[in-house]
Amino acid sequence: MPMNAPAHDATGLGEIDRSGGRVRVDEKRLLNARADVNQLLPMKYRWAWEKYLAACNNHWMPTEVSMQADIALWKSRDGLTAEERRMVRRNLGFFAASESLVANNIVLAVYRQLANPECRQYLLRQAFEEAVHTHCFQYIVESLGLDGGELFNMYREVPSITDKAAWALRHTRALSDPAFRTGTPAADQDFLRDLVAFYVVFEGMWFYTGFAQILSLGRRNRMVGIAGQYQYILRDESIHLNFGIDVINQIRHENPHLWTRAFQDEVRGMLAEAAALEAAYGRDTMPHGLLGLNAELCAQYMHFIANRRCAQLGLAPVFAEAANPFPWMSETMDLMKEKNFFETRVTEYQNGGALAWD
Ligand SMILES: [Fe+2]
Ligand SMILES: [Fe+2]
Repeated sequence: MPMNAPAHDATGLGEIDRSGGRVRVDEKRLLNARADVNQLLPMKYRWAWEKYLAACNNHWMPTEVSMQADIALWKSRDGLTAEERRMVRRNLGFFAASESLVANNIVLAVYRQLANPECRQYLLRQAFEEAVHTHCFQYIVESLGLDGGELFNMYREVPSITDKAAWALRHTRALSDPAFRTGTPAADQDFLRDLVAFYVVFEGMWFYTGFAQILSLGRRNRMVGIAGQYQYILRDESIHLNFGIDVINQIRHENPHLWTRAFQDEVRGMLAEAAALEAAYGRDTMPHGLLGLNAELCAQYMHFIANRRCAQLGLAPVFAEAANPFPWMSETMDLMKEKNFFETRVTEYQNGGALAWD
């Protein structure tokens, strides 16, 4: 059978092959695999399995984080300025629907085509985490008494948020067609575009401005409950991003004919478009700057992040060299990696939910 022959059963739900041989490691591939997708062992992609284990070790639930301090601050008249409240609302509105878009893309588009059981094991875990993240926004809405309809409709009603969602949805639409199958260079590239749009752009670029906005409040000891939840989301998302990068790079490695010069330029173009959409979101959510952030610094941050994503994918940078305007974001991420989550959680209970921001 030629290497690029369509997989005989990528779903794992077809007729059972009663006479076939056992799976050999070298038959496993990410796209268009001939190996039975129901056999986790023998394992080929340890990086996927290790991410599954790391994600399970990071288990958390939104309701474990106390919202008492946030409720008091949100309800006090002078707790936050009008601009800060608007930024918080739009930030929550952006994430609330985005978690659902990301989850739908994994479950309805990526999972069907990614014909490898160790990767699917991680996708199942990731799908659960996206449910936890959506739960987080329900919990915040309920705790603060926010208008849930307003928040969950922002992806339709606030143009700077709609533009991002619409951009990403364009890329998942091709894959969610029930007739879509990988197995041709054009279809395989469609699959890669979807991974870039969701893992690299949505989770790997756009979420980071959102994290910076809320963590900037947390560093100032304000809205520490939401900020604490965002720290846990950020820890999950950094694994989602790295999983996506590893999948793309492995597909590149297994299918070098897909990673043409033209396709590389297209991916770089996607990252440039994504940075422009994010700059518009920055202007919309922080028209006058606040909390040490402003639209210009956020645009610079996106340039810095986009170049980092290019490096992770072996691509030339999209932007001229950009310094990280928010070095404290990297420190926050490093701290999260070192923190013993379970010890922290016990401390949180004792402290009534306050995370330390030092
Ligand atoms: Fe998420
Ligand atoms: Fe995610």
